[in-house]
Amino acid sequence: MTVYGSFPGARPRRLRVNPAMRRMVAETRLHAADLILPAFVREGISEPVPIQAMPGVVQHTRDTLRKAAVEAREAGVAGIMLFGVPEDEKKDGLGTAGTDPDGILQVAIRDVKAEVGDELVIMSDLCLDEYTDHGHCGVLAADGRVDNDATLERYAEMAQVQADAGVHVVGPSGMMDGQIGVVRDALDSIGKEDVSILAYTAKYSSAFYGPFREAVGSSLQGDRKTYQQDPANVRESLRELSLDLEEGADMVMVKPAGPYLDVLAKVAESVDVPVAAYQISGEYAMVEAAAEKGWIDREKAIAETLLGIKRAGASMILTYWATEVAQGLRAAR
Ligand code: PBG
Repeated sequence: MTVYGSFPGARPRRLRVNPAMRRMVAETRLHAADLILPAFVREGISEPVPIQAMPGVVQHTRDTLRKAAVEAREAGVAGIMLFGVPEDEKKDGLGTAGTDPDGILQVAIRDVKAEVGDELVIMSDLCLDEYTDHGHCGVLAADGRVDNDATLERYAEMAQVQADAGVHVVGPSGMMDGQIGVVRDALDSIGKEDVSILAYTAKYSSAFYGPFREAVGSSLQGDRKTYQQDPANVRESLRELSLDLEEGADMVMVKPAGPYLDVLAKVAESVDVPVAAYQISGEYAMVEAAAEKGWIDREKAIAETLLGIKRAGASMILTYWATEVAQGLRAAR
């Protein structure tokens, strides 16, 4: 055998020789407690309704939502993020159903709380788009623009009804300026100092929300570009981050996850609060669609996307695969 000089001098492949070795030196590990399950609950249905663009995900009935929460808890999932889908005729310009104490989201929070208590962190989307007839995340001014400050008043009220229903964490996702401060004050003023805020800090205006809009039956015309961030920007996220922290965010989030791992990494390295990433509906749909066609290995692709998000710095990941992945991790132990 000819030996060509002394190269290679280093052999990183030694640490990849077999599964046991690779397992030992793995720098990132997924854990069920990293995962949060986003779930939709729809008013007035007696059977769950499948979401076409998200195979495997449904709009839950109140009853199946409770079951999904129990299943998530049993799998060891950390939390559940609830989205309410009201009956169409209950949508209006102000998103009134979002602040109705008996609105679908508030009812669902109570249901889930009664079922799992404090064993699963119960979170709620704090945004108006599910409840407005125009589909925007806020209320509209006379000229049709989303009125930031008028919307803040609605968010304050939403935070209070969600807290009254027993939620542990509210997730303001509308990208209005000042939303975190207003929500914090609103919660504190009714004695809900213990309800925490997961701020959607860097939320980009993304094409990958498409399937979600079907999931919540959104009636949005146009886009959200005057409030959600431009995909071209990253410094802007750091500005949003410092504002959210100043205003009292307990945890911060980057969304979407996969196409914004650089943003996630920057945010994670500059804060001392937990950082979440939301692997959104379009990210889910892409993997499911390619897998359905037999073009990728579904389970491996799912694991890789989640590992990538965690490696980039997320301490919590919202993913529609949360329960399935947590069950898989449990079985593999
Ligand atoms: C706003 C909200 C959206 C998502 C979560 N909260 C939609 C949007 O901003 O258009 C998207 C989640 C997903 O796509 O999975 N209430």
